[in-house]
Amino acid sequence: MIKKGIILAGGSGTRLHPTTLATSKQLLPVFDKPMIYYSLSTLLLAGIRQILIISTPADLPQYRRLFHDGSHLGITISYAEQPTPDGLAQAFLIGETWIAGEACALVLGDNFIHGDHLSTLLSAAASRPEGATVFAYQVRDAERYGVVSFNADGKAIRIIEKPVRPESAWAVTGLYFYDARVTELAKTIKPSARGELEITDLNQLYLVEGTLHVEKLGRGTAWLDAGTPDSLLQAATFVQTIQTRQGNLVGCPEEVAYRMGFIDAAMLRENAKAIGKTELGRILTEIADGLHP
Ligand code: TTP
Repeated sequence: MIKKGIILAGGSGTRLHPTTLATSKQLLPVFDKPMIYYSLSTLLLAGIRQILIISTPADLPQYRRLFHDGSHLGITISYAEQPTPDGLAQAFLIGETWIAGEACALVLGDNFIHGDHLSTLLSAAASRPEGATVFAYQVRDAERYGVVSFNADGKAIRIIEKPVRPESAWAVTGLYFYDARVTELAKTIKPSARGELEITDLNQLYLVEGTLHVEKLGRGTAWLDAGTPDSLLQAATFVQTIQTRQGNLVGCPEEVAYRMGFIDAAMLRENAKAIGKTELGRILTEIADGLHP
């Protein structure tokens, strides 16, 4: 069972300039909560309770202010700096001591996944003892992502980072599960032409040895990344639509922590109180009162 997970919340956020000139992208609101809440919720849903948040030296103090040690969520949150955005796979080098040779997940702090049966998929990925698991999602702008191609039997055969002419529409999402060899393998990666330690190169190592599991996320699942003005607005509207229509929360770590049994109803009520008289606080109180089974 994978017990540890890293949230990568650094980067330069150039596509959101000037908004991100003076603040961290992953702290921007996606409707009613900070963007990082969504990726944190994903890790909690996978049963992961030891979290490392990596961000820039300038932004890390704000994440500490937001989450402290994580005990209000029944989890442990640690923090580490990434001085310069040298690539996603660098997370495993920065986190080496913290990972301590164990299996580890990684989620990008500007990604979120929402859909039916997600917790089943996530816990299956977290319980896979060997290899790596990534998720693929069909998009219209695959050239922006790592793109995975499949053979006639549906087996993943290639992943190419930001291809000019994508071989398929299947983008690799920003959620990855790796076995205990991840740090050692990450150390063997060389910077790419754009000077980054590419997560695609790490995934390629697992693919070549035949231990990369690629799970396709179907049409009933939404995968969004909130890295541009348009996608940020779309993500906010998505959350607003689902929450207002259903009364169910999307990407709320307090709720997930409660439903996963990491905190009890009294602690959930405390968390709700800290949020004050917001709609979010009201719904969390209702959940603690058993009104949203
Ligand atoms: P990107 O969206 O690829 O990059 P970015 O956030 O710097 O944005 P832009 O392209 O607009 O300049 O990064 C994906 C996620 O990973 C995002 O949450 C930022 C984070 N990240 C890091 O924390 N460290 C890094 O070295 C890189 C490349 C990204």
